[in-house]
Amino acid sequence: MSNKRRGKIAAVLAVCLPVLVAGMAVPSTADSGRYLLEVEANTSAERTQVAQIGVDVLGATKLTTVQVVADKAQYRALQATGLPLKYVGDFEQELKKLGKVDFTDPVPGQVGAQDFPSGYAGYHNYAEMTAELQQTVRDHPTLASLRSIGKSYQNRDIYALKVSDNVATDENEPEVLFVCGQHAREHLTVEQCLQIIKRFTDNYATPAVKDLVDNREVWLVPMMNPDGAEYDIETGSFRGWRKNRQGNGTDLNRNWGYKWGCCGGSSGSSTSDTYRGTAAFSAPETSVIRNFVNSRVVGGAQQIKTFIDFHSYSELVLWPYGYTRSDTDTGLNADEARAFQTLGRQMAATNGYTPEQASDLYITDGSSDDWMWGQHKIWAYTFEMYPASGSGLNGFYPRDTAIATQTARNDRAVDLLLSYSDCVKRVIGQTC
Ligand code: ARG
Ligand code: ZN
Repeated sequence: MSNKRRGKIAAVLAVCLPVLVAGMAVPSTADSGRYLLEVEANTSAERTQVAQIGVDVLGATKLTTVQVVADKAQYRALQATGLPLKYVGDFEQELKKLGKVDFTDPVPGQVGAQDFPSGYAGYHNYAEMTAELQQTVRDHPTLASLRSIGKSYQNRDIYALKVSDNVATDENEPEVLFVCGQHAREHLTVEQCLQIIKRFTDNYATPAVKDLVDNREVWLVPMMNPDGAEYDIETGSFRGWRKNRQGNGTDLNRNWGYKWGCCGGSSGSSTSDTYRGTAAFSAPETSVIRNFVNSRVVGGAQQIKTFIDFHSYSELVLWPYGYTRSDTDTGLNADEARAFQTLGRQMAATNGYTPEQASDLYITDGSSDDWMWGQHKIWAYTFEMYPASGSGLNGFYPRDTAIATQTARNDRAVDLLLSYSDCVKRVIGQTC
């Protein structure tokens, strides 16, 4: 074959079989048009470049490899970067492998499945989570109180549960906020909030727990994005869904109003998995949490001192800012940066996660932690939970057997955050 001819065939192949990596082609019959890929990206700049193509970045492994979902056009854009790529599988096929609820034996009275597949029954869907919160309040009426702080786009209640001694009274104690389930498919984080609630109520008699609960007021929002979470499971197999359910979906963690859309850390395209929405707080779910946090300014002082936003996966402890790679910037001075780092590293030492500034992963704008700090000076962390790495979508879907160990794994980090919530700067030897 002449070289000229060979060149022609190669050109044709490159067009017809865009996903041709290391000699592995996507079987055309099973091709859903969305691919799971691994991209080698060793720096924040490279990972930001990958994210800016608009692919869905699922997670990062040891900060050298990122797992992404890409359509054909995005795949070509990834190829053009020259970063090494590996094809993992077809998006739809990989999701199906994770399991399916058996429709031959439906639960009476349920529409569709609306529940987790087998192997995942230990996870709470929205109804189960709600029931669990209500039961907690019945079991511990002096320690736990439940309120709806607003509605999701599809009109579901977004719940906040407060845990403290004398829970009905707004005492003069530092307040702590935990948010879980901002991203729909990150179901393990919902279990994390429920586990914190259980430990602080059922184990209240334990002296160390009693001391924390007596001297702090703890707020938990176990499912910030109930519409997305239900959508992810409603067919009986997982959809790998991240956003809320407004239009094509808004990425809630790009919709917060501190330097919203500033820095190439989100997308303006509604089909992107990092779509920032039409305006800051255009999503009902982010504005519900904003209003709640704003309402905790009492007598001019923000009562909430510390915050963790639980996500999955990659096993990371992240701190602000996400929009810039600088350690310090407007509203974040060198001492504050040092306090963020020190407490972040101490928490990571207890759970074995990797501590780093959020932008060391990749640039994000409109994230919750930047707003909590930038707007309210709340010491805000993002935890990326188990597993450290996943091959594609399965990182979001560990079996329910992982729930107990992977949530208890954060007990000491949570307690450390609570204990410093009177004065985080104490962690660097300063007073407040
Ligand atoms: N997986 C999270 C997201 O994409 C990570 C956010 C990290 N950045 C941050 N500012 N917390 O939303
Ligand atoms: Zn997330």
